[in-house]
Amino acid sequence: MKKITIAIDGYSSCGKSTMAKDLAKIVKYNYIDSGAMYRAVTLYALRNNLFEGDYPNEPALKECINRIHIDFRQNETTGKSDTYLNGENVEKEIRSMEVADKVSPVAAVGFVREALVKQQQEMGKGKGIVMDGRDIGTIVFPDAELKIFVTARPEVRAQRRLAELAVKGENVSFEEVLQNLAKRDFIDTTRKDGPLRQAGDAIVIDNSDLTIEAQNAQMLKLFERSLES
Ligand code: DC
Repeated sequence: MKKITIAIDGYSSCGKSTMAKDLAKIVKYNYIDSGAMYRAVTLYALRNNLFEGDYPNEPALKECINRIHIDFRQNETTGKSDTYLNGENVEKEIRSMEVADKVSPVAAVGFVREALVKQQQEMGKGKGIVMDGRDIGTIVFPDAELKIFVTARPEVRAQRRLAELAVKGENVSFEEVLQNLAKRDFIDTTRKDGPLRQAGDAIVIDNSDLTIEAQNAQMLKLFERSLES
């Protein structure tokens, strides 16, 4: 059966990964969370004191970049894929507020993007993949057969993020989350390398008022249409 590449891009916390994970499960494709890779590099930089204030010390990070190995492994208990940094399961740590707060400046560094884009392209070589991020349809897989650009209203996104953090026991306010999202949007859309942009051939989905079921049905229809064309 023909296999395609599916690229899902969009703003932080607009439900991209839920969409991507669900679709991958339904169509039995591999799912890759490219944001997790930027988060893992950020965690490495935090642990190794490679930050100066809000920004990474670029020469110091550059020296280490080839020693940062990221892979995804299936968690037998949860049935989900976990992120590993140099062989250690860091799935929980990379989702913390501390990492979320520092990741955008790291993701704006040219050599970091270059290294991760290369790894992502390698992971997608055989097609049959759903990858979500910011530059998947524009830079990583410009020839993807199906490209989706996801949006949702800022308050909806902040509420979703807040709920996610509450489950993890992180006590932050709605305002803090809203501010963190606005800051990340600004950096993600204005950076020089791989900025968040809608690919010309992407289909836009605003999921603010969509149920998961309606969203999945819409995605499946788009998938089937892409297979036929
Ligand atoms: O999707 P996320 O929130 O886990 O992404 C974390 C950060 O990484 C976010 O600031 C955007 C950045 N990112 C990126 O620059 N390019 C990608 N392909 C994926 C994420």
